[in-house]
Parts: sequence; C-alpha cells; structure tokens
Amino acid sequence: MVTEKELIRKAIEAMEYAYTPYSDFQVGAALLTEDGKIYQGCNIENAAYTPTVCAERTAFFKAVSQGERHFSAICIVGGKHGILSGYTAPCGVCRQVMREFCQPDVFRIILARDEEHWKEYVLSELLPEGFGPENLQSENPK
Ligand code: THU
Repeated sequence: MVTEKELIRKAIEAMEYAYTPYSDFQVGAALLTEDGKIYQGCNIENAAYTPTVCAERTAFFKAVSQGERHFSAICIVGGKHGILSGYTAPCGVCRQVMREFCQPDVFRIILARDEEHWKEYVLSELLPEGFGPENLQSENPK
C-alpha cells in the first residue's frame, strides 16, 4: 500500500528534473497505478512555448506508453525556483488527459505543499461533466 507521503516524496523527487528555462516554475508528479507502480513526471518547457508539456502529462504518457491503463492517484507539487510554495493544481488539459484513463469518481488527485500538508480531490470534483471515451460510443449515450 503506497502512502500519501511516499507519493509526495516521489513527486518532489521528480520536480528536480523539471526543465523550466522560461517560467522557472518547476512541477513534479507521481502517478500511482492500480497495482502499486509509480511513474514520475516533470514539466518540460520549449523555446517555441506551445510544445511545453506539464509534469502530469509527462507521467501519464510515460505510463501509458509502457502499457499501463489503470490508475488510482496522482500527486502534484510545484513552485517557483523549485521551492515548494502553495498548492499546484493541474491545468485543464491535464485534467482532460486524466479523464481519458481514470474513473472520475474514484481517481484521486493529491495536491501537496510539503510532505505534511496536502489536499485531496477526486477527478470529478476538478473536472465536472467531463467529456470522456464513453461519449463517443453511440450505442451507449450518456
Ligand atoms: N505546469 C505543470 O507542469 N503542471 C501544472 O499543473 C501547472 C503548470 C507547468 C507548465 C509550465 O512549464 C509551468 O508549469 C508554468 O506554467
């Protein structure tokens, strides 16, 4: 059983690798699979700006590209100059990526400010009425 603290530590570790020459805002994510594996991700910026990818999507795309499809939680930390400061909530695009692979009422999003302080949501709280894979199944309209 992976604890919240363990997940927070993994997110903080991932943040160290953030590539942020433009914003100097470093983000780390630790994504937990249903069978207990952890995939880490950091944000990776780009001189052309729009190719920048968030820490959460880095973690998801690493995991999905390794064959993972079932996730139970993600922990996110972030801060300017790599110093943890307040809570870093996932952007709308990352919430939508989570919606593709996660059960909205079950998948947990843990926002940590340090190892002792975190807030926890489920995806449906941060992305209500989301558009997901089942919306494209005409035989089973929602
Ligand atoms: N960023 C993330 O990696 N995740 C978030 O949840 C919010 C924003 C990154 C993108 C960009 O590299 C920097 O933070 C500033 O927006």
